[in-house]
Amino acid sequence: METQEQTMNVMPRIGDQAPDFTAVTTKGTIKFSDFAKDKWVILFSHPADFTPVCTTEMSGFAKRKSEFEALNTELIGLSIDSIHSHLAWVNNVKNNTGVYFDFPIIADIDMKVSKLYGMLQPNESETAAVRAVFFIDPSKKIRLVMYYPLNVGRNMDEILRALEALQVSDENGVAMPLNWKKGDKVIIPPPKNLDEMNDRLNDDSCERVDFYLCKKDL
Ligand code: BEZ
Repeated sequence: METQEQTMNVMPRIGDQAPDFTAVTTKGTIKFSDFAKDKWVILFSHPADFTPVCTTEMSGFAKRKSEFEALNTELIGLSIDSIHSHLAWVNNVKNNTGVYFDFPIIADIDMKVSKLYGMLQPNESETAAVRAVFFIDPSKKIRLVMYYPLNVGRNMDEILRALEALQVSDENGVAMPLNWKKGDKVIIPPPKNLDEMNDRLNDDSCERVDFYLCKKDL
């Protein structure tokens, strides 16, 4: 019997634990809670195999897999296609372009995982998952969610930038300003009381606009 969450097509939110599932993938059957232990995970959906935008996106993930690995991150894709379709598409793209999708792609033919992750958005498509990206940390908590429509491909630079921003933020207890990229100054959390405010106003080690907006180099 389906659980309530499976039937409701809920949209998991930032801060939620990533829903667990077991699924058939191009790398064999995977239980998500056992996948990529102690690593970050990028779980992403695409609308359909053998479609043009999806082919560019999957190729983008495949070509930059080593950059995700350098950020201690595993990729796992998904669409509502059969495992046979996935295998044929992976082989077709490899033969046509030399790009090999060397990460698991979930064959979500019963839409179980798509429903768990709110990837089915019927006013956009009744038959395909939208382009979702879930950034999941090593404790399997959802940290960032992107949803794109069927007709606009995602931006791989932004996915990698946001992933690195999350990790650097966690590691240093800082926040990231507009357009932050590696090497840029970061934002020091604002003071929480008057003593901290006065200290901050006298702190010349940071780049200060005012007490609530101070940046520093890492
Ligand atoms: C595409 O990836 O090109 C695509 C997939 C589904 C609907 C529209 C476009």
